[in-house]
Amino acid sequence: MAKLMTLGAGNMASALLFPMRNSLEGFYAFTPSVTKAAELAKTMGGKCIETLDRYPKDVDFLFLAFKPQQFDQASNELLEKAKIKESTVIVSMLAGTPLEVLKEKFNSDRVVRIMPNTPCTTGKGVILTLFGAGVNDEEKKELLFLLNTAGMTHDCESEDQFDAITAVTGSGPAYIFEYARQMASYLESVGVKETKDLVAQLFLGTSKLMTDSPLDFETLRNNVTSKKGVTYEALESFKADKWEELTHRGLQKNLKRSLELRENALKLRK
Ligand SMILES: NC(=O)c1ccc[n+]([C@@H]2O[C@H](COP(=O)([O-])OP(=O)(O)OC[C@H]3O[C@@H](n4cnc5c(N)ncnc54)[C@H](OP(=O)(O)O)[C@@H]3O)[C@@H](O)[C@H]2O)c1
Repeated sequence: MAKLMTLGAGNMASALLFPMRNSLEGFYAFTPSVTKAAELAKTMGGKCIETLDRYPKDVDFLFLAFKPQQFDQASNELLEKAKIKESTVIVSMLAGTPLEVLKEKFNSDRVVRIMPNTPCTTGKGVILTLFGAGVNDEEKKELLFLLNTAGMTHDCESEDQFDAITAVTGSGPAYIFEYARQMASYLESVGVKETKDLVAQLFLGTSKLMTDSPLDFETLRNNVTSKKGVTYEALESFKADKWEELTHRGLQKNLKRSLELRENALKLRK
């Protein structure tokens, strides 16, 4: 079993790391304010590291879980104060920060990019991975074992693929929450008061059907849609409003922003 340390203990770190609590040999957390690291360390049954000069000697996986804009300051402080053992694998969840930037900063290709999503907290997340060339098969296996406690992992072939899929699986929960909000707001407009459970159960049941059924999404949709029926009317109206184009355009904008962030990160290191 591995020993894991996280720098940053905000929303995403907590969501991803919580399901790993029984699968680790050791857990350490550091945050500048101490409070969040102490809270996460307590839930994980691990230790809060109050200052980086007390960085532990035995960390196998070091997770970077602060904001991308804190990358330079946080990693410079880490490199200055901590003695990171050579065999440590650095695992970054920083959006828009490519492997090349991580490799250069830590002078190592034992680096991994991951992109989790907030459903990880339920153990049903999606976590994208992109491994640096220096991570060996055994370390990959160990990291995937830990990540799988939080959901399904998907290994990407390239930085481009990683960013393109992120537009769906990383940001996707936000689109789905927004769609759920719109459905709830419609229900409220027709006088329904308790809407959250109704809409949440609709998504839960539909997701279960999507995962359990061997049928593709189109067939599953058609199974709910009789010609000239009520569902058909709604779908035809969405189609007339170019729903699919709207979705693709939004996802393309997401990818464009990722590419801008990547470019900026590459420029900044020079
Ligand atoms: N939210 C998502 O859905 C999502 C999805 C995928 C990836 N991500 C990535 O996950 C990362 C964290 O996002 P978040 O939403 O969890 O942010 P967040 O809730 O704002 O948490 C950021 C954490 O970073 C800590 N921090 C700040 N400066 C630091 C430093 N110098 N050294 C160590 N820790 C430091 C903060 O500590 P204090 O508590 O002391 O302020 C805080 O605990 C980002 O890089 C984001 O791109 C997020």
